[in-house]
Parts: sequence; structure tokens; C-alpha cells
Amino acid sequence: MSRTIFVTTALPYANGSFHIGHIMEYIQADIWVRSLRMAGHTVHFVCADDTHGAPIMLKAESEGITPQQLVARVAAERPQYLRGFGIAFDHWHSTDSPENIELSQDIYRKLRAAGLIETRCIEQFFDPVKGMFLPDRYIKGECPKCHAKDQYGDACEVCSSVYAPTDLIDPYSTITGARPVLKSSDHFFFKLSDPRCVAFLQDWTTGENARGTRRLQQEVLAKTREWLGKDDGEAKLGDWDISRDAPYFGIEIPDAPGKYFYVWLDAPVGYLAALKAYCSIAGLDYDALVDPAGTTEQVHFIGKDIVYFHALFWPATLKFSGRKTPDQINVHGFITVSGEKMSKSRGTGISPLRYLEIGMNAEWLRYYIAAKLNSHVEDIDFNPDDFMARVNSDLVGKYVNIASRAANFISKYFEGELRYTADTTALAAVWTQAADRVRADIEAREYARAIRDIMAMADRINQAFDAAQPWLIAKGLANADAAQRGALQDICSTALAGFKAMSVMLAPILPQLSARVAGELFGLDRPFVWSDAGVLPTRINPFKHLMQRVDPDMLDALFEPPAAPPEPALVPGGEPIADTIGIEDFSRIDLRIARIVNCEHVEGAAKLLRLTLDVGEGRHRNVFSGIKSAFQPEQLIGRLTVMVANLAPRKMKFGVSEGMVLAASHADDAVDTGIYLLSPDSGAQPGMRVR
Ligand code: MSP
Ligand code: ZN
Repeated sequence: MSRTIFVTTALPYANGSFHIGHIMEYIQADIWVRSLRMAGHTVHFVCADDTHGAPIMLKAESEGITPQQLVARVAAERPQYLRGFGIAFDHWHSTDSPENIELSQDIYRKLRAAGLIETRCIEQFFDPVKGMFLPDRYIKGECPKCHAKDQYGDACEVCSSVYAPTDLIDPYSTITGARPVLKSSDHFFFKLSDPRCVAFLQDWTTGENARGTRRLQQEVLAKTREWLGKDDGEAKLGDWDISRDAPYFGIEIPDAPGKYFYVWLDAPVGYLAALKAYCSIAGLDYDALVDPAGTTEQVHFIGKDIVYFHALFWPATLKFSGRKTPDQINVHGFITVSGEKMSKSRGTGISPLRYLEIGMNAEWLRYYIAAKLNSHVEDIDFNPDDFMARVNSDLVGKYVNIASRAANFISKYFEGELRYTADTTALAAVWTQAADRVRADIEAREYARAIRDIMAMADRINQAFDAAQPWLIAKGLANADAAQRGALQDICSTALAGFKAMSVMLAPILPQLSARVAGELFGLDRPFVWSDAGVLPTRINPFKHLMQRVDPDMLDALFEPPAAPPEPALVPGGEPIADTIGIEDFSRIDLRIARIVNCEHVEGAAKLLRLTLDVGEGRHRNVFSGIKSAFQPEQLIGRLTVMVANLAPRKMKFGVSEGMVLAASHADDAVDTGIYLLSPDSGAQPGMRVR
């Protein structure tokens, strides 16, 4: 029975380039999709950029561009990665699209009509300078437990305690530095605690899909049971806050001016939006594909960090808006590089683009990742030595080698013709069965097992070839009888029949190589399908070199950081040099010579002095500066210094501060090595730019 399957991978955030974790996910899904297509099933495989949310809005703002421009820039670089690694998406879409707006709003209206949306007034931290509510990750402060400074709003990285942003001592907004204030606002909640939702999710997570298989892996199911609280009989799932207040880059909530969907509401809807857009391009019937009563299967590949959204929120969102729910959520672990978690700031990990640029073969990586993946939520590691060993010894040394050994005899002595002495029906059956086993393993996402199986086949073929010593027969071929000639032809033909079958089995993993084998060596006018494995080849074309080995220099180049930022050295000031910026970043900071025309103490402020500055603007600026411990006001009056003249004004308890003066000090307040106000050489005038 031919199946129709709608497959997605997680939609990557559109604020940065792909990293090796994304590529790993796409490779896993792509292998699965290709294998199903080779079996004759119809697969619609789509993805999209996840564009909305505060981080993208703020990143665009910091670059002086619109979020749409940022998203477009990132989207423009996607194809070179996808093409480079042979990922066969049918369509790449965006959550910032008309389809997604329409679908998200429709879903919301249906949820509301079902009585599952509730408005509640909640209090949250608000940045009074920026004029926006602050997501937890933009609030920092002192840990209430261990008093470590500069900890995030949700958890302390030093003592690991978990708390609410409101528990922080001296909280500040990481966007403006302002002290956040509590402000209330109406939010929309999806009532997941509603008995209908709880009952549905209990059933959906534990039940089976229409094919009679589990929707979730065992370990994922265990997690959802924990979250749903089934085992202690009490529902734990809280209602889900799905709205955010302006300013927000997102989709407007119908009938609620100034309110937007939280990015995680519209992001998975992007799966449907991508399919819908693809359908209109390809002339497919979208409604039929997503019909809850239809037979299309819906499968999502995701990483372990976003299970909560996909195994709970997403099925509930679909179900209660009257839609089809997913049939399978395939969760994978994370990829580490040489045992280290990836971190952008530390520059570890490997750059997929660099991998391609230095001429490394994408199919080496596809093979290596496949050789490590199974159906469980386990992390895998990219280890360069292991990578080289598996590609060079196994892929090239065992598999590719079979063809180069056997094909030359056939071309040289038999004009490319293959002939078998043994029972060809039995031989064909052996390869059909082997391919069936591998196909089933791939469908079960047991790629590592499939590859172990294939490499064991390669070992057996090579052993049989060696044992028969065809090169000895070839040497004496001039005087050989028909039986000996036949034996040579049979040995090589049998090896090549195995090579062909293995190429079919490896086709989902090595699409490019296998397509060349199909076309160049076996003269097929199409790529392999599964049933080709049991069709014994009758002739070959001359063998052409198929695959290079990994050169260790390439791996060195891959790991050598392109323009390595020097290791942050600890300087006497107590903090490492910050990340490299470009001159354009620097030039956005407008530094000016300022004359301190007045300076006074601030009533009730332990650290501050109030400065009145002349920056040559024909008016004076009021600036608060935390330099009281180092100066008497009289010492400063009349002095020239340097100020940041284009810093957003900051509302403080004592008034508005309109800039900042520059001074040197130790990073740690507790290390009292003094505060040193900057001053220009004599002759500088107020208002001159410092550059
Ligand atoms: N935008 C959300 C997903 C929305 S889906 C409607 C998101 N984006 S992401 O860019 O952070 O991650 C995209 C996918 O990459 C996720 O499935 C995530 O688990 C996966 N990975 C991120 N880092 C990874 C590794 N180190 N290893 C493997 N996959 C990893 O989450
Ligand atoms: Zn702490």
C-alpha cells in the first residue's frame, strides 16, 4: 500500500546561520524521506524559517535593520547549505508569511470558539526606557541565593538555583540597563488545564496512530507522563500564555489590538503554512493532505530540547482547532564535537559552510552521522579520528573498493558483460532480503544498525573475492580454459551484484554517489529504488573513480578557526577582552568631548554624582555617574572628559540621565583600585567627536 507522508524538521530560528546540529537533523530526516520515496511512497518534505519573537526583533534593531530584512538575509543563505548537504526539501518557507498569518489566526479563533482561550491580567517586568515587557532572558541581576552578580532572570549559573525574575536583587534590563518595573497587562491563555485537553493529551501521548504504531518514543512518552502528572493522578499541566504585548515581531491576535501571538504559538503552524505554500506551487490539494479523516501521515523530526512544545502544545493546538494531529514525533539527541557542547561564543563546533568550502565531501558527513544514529534520544559525537576511520576504512576501503577491484576484470576481459554460474534466483533473493532488512531499519531510524549490516555484507564480499584469488586466474588467462574464464567472470559478477545491492541500500544515505553508480556503472537512466537490489546486473560500464578518502589536512583545516579570535586573556582590569566587533559597530557609538560645567552630590544616592555637561549643543545635559567614591564635586567642575552622546536616555530614581561619561575601573567593585575619569589632551573643545 502506497503511503502519503507529510514530513518536517524543526523550523530553525531565523537569527543566524545553520550549525552542525541543524545539519544533523536535516540529514536524519532526509535519509528517512529518501528511503520512503525509494519504496514508492509519496513524501512531502518541507521546512521554514522560524522568524518571530523578541530576540529577532532586538537583533534586527541592534543592526539598524528591520526584522524582515534580517530574516531575508538569513533565508538567502539557506540554499547553499541545503544543496551542499543534499537535503531534499520540497519547499522552504517562512513563518512570516500570509499562509502562516491566516492559519495561526484561524487556529486561534477555533480555540476561542471551543472555550479554551482565557484572558488574565498578569504582572511582569517592564523596561521603562525601552517601553517593552522583558522576556526572562533579558533580565539580569544578583542571585538571591549565592549573590553572584549578573545572573539571568530564571536561574543562577553559579549556584544553579531556580527562581523568578522578581526574586533577583538589583535587577536590570540587559537591553537598556534600566531597572525593570512591574507592570500589569492582559494576556491570553490556552487552557491546557481544561479537562478536555488533559484527557486528550493522556490519550494522544500513550495511544497509537492509524498505522498502529506509537506516536512517541518510549523515553519521550516517559517525559510526557511526568509533565502530565498521570502517575500521581493529578494534572500538572498549566495553562499556556500565548500572547505578547507590542512591541513584538509576530502575528497580530484577532480582535486584540497591540497583542501578538507568542512565537511558539505560530512557529509549528509554520509546518502547515509551508505545506500549504508548497501545495499551491506543486498543484497539490492541501485540504486533502491535512484532512483529519484522510490517510496522509504527519511526521515531525525534532531535537530533544523542544519536546514539550511538540508532544503537548502542538497536538492540543491542532486537536482543539479541529485539525489532524501528528502521527509520529521523532526526537533525536544533540551532536557534540569532540565531546564538547557547541557554543557560538567559544567558537567550538564545526562550521557546515567551512566543511563545504574546503572541499570536504558532504556524503562523508551523511555517512558518518548515519553510522552513529539510532532511534533513541541519545547524543552523538563528531570525533575527527573516528570520522576519518569510518569514511576511509569502511566506506571507501570496504564498499567502494569492491567495485574498483571487480569492475576492472569485467571491463578488461569480458567487455563489460556479467555472467553467473550459481543459481541466480537464489542470489537475487539473498540481496532482496538484505535490502528489506536495511529498508526496515532505516524506516525504524536504526541507521547505525543498517550501516553495521551493510559493512558486514561488504566484509563477506571482500573475503569471498580474496579467497577466490581472481587475479591469479587473470594472470594465466591466455592459457585458461572456458571453465576458468567462467569462474573469473562469476567471481567478479557476484561481487558486482553485491556492490549494486549495497549501493541501493546506501542510496538514502549517499544519494549522489549511488546515483553515479546507478548511471555511470550500471547504465540506469534513473536513481535506484529499493526493488533494484534484487535485480542482478547483466553488464557494466568501465569503472570511474567514485570517492576520495578523507585527507587529514582537511580535518585540520576544518578545525582551524578561520580568523581565530585570540583566547580571551585576563587583563589587570579583571575581565577578558570582549568579542571582536567591526568598525561599523564602533562607529555607531557617538563619543564627544564634554565640559563638566557643574557637579553635585545626589540626595540619597550612595554612588552617584550629578554632572551637568556641555557638549557644544547649545544646551546642557544631565548625566548621573557612579563615580562618587573617587571624586569631590569641586574637583570635577571645569574639567573636560569624554561622553557617550547617543546613548538612549535612561530614567532613574533621581531623574533622567542623558548619556554616560567614560572612566576606567576594575570589573569587580570589591577590588578598589580606583576610578579614573578620561580626559582629552589640552586644546580639545566640547562637542568634538572622538573616533
Ligand atoms: N525555532 C525553534 C523550533 C521551532 S519548530 C516549530 C528552534 N530552533 S533552533 O534553531 O534552535 O533549533 C532547530 C532544531 O535544531 C531543533 O530541533 C533543535 O533541537 C536542533 N538542534 C539545535 N542544536 C542541536 C545540536 N547540537 N544537535 C542536534 N540538534 C540540535 O528550536
Ligand atoms: Zn546563585
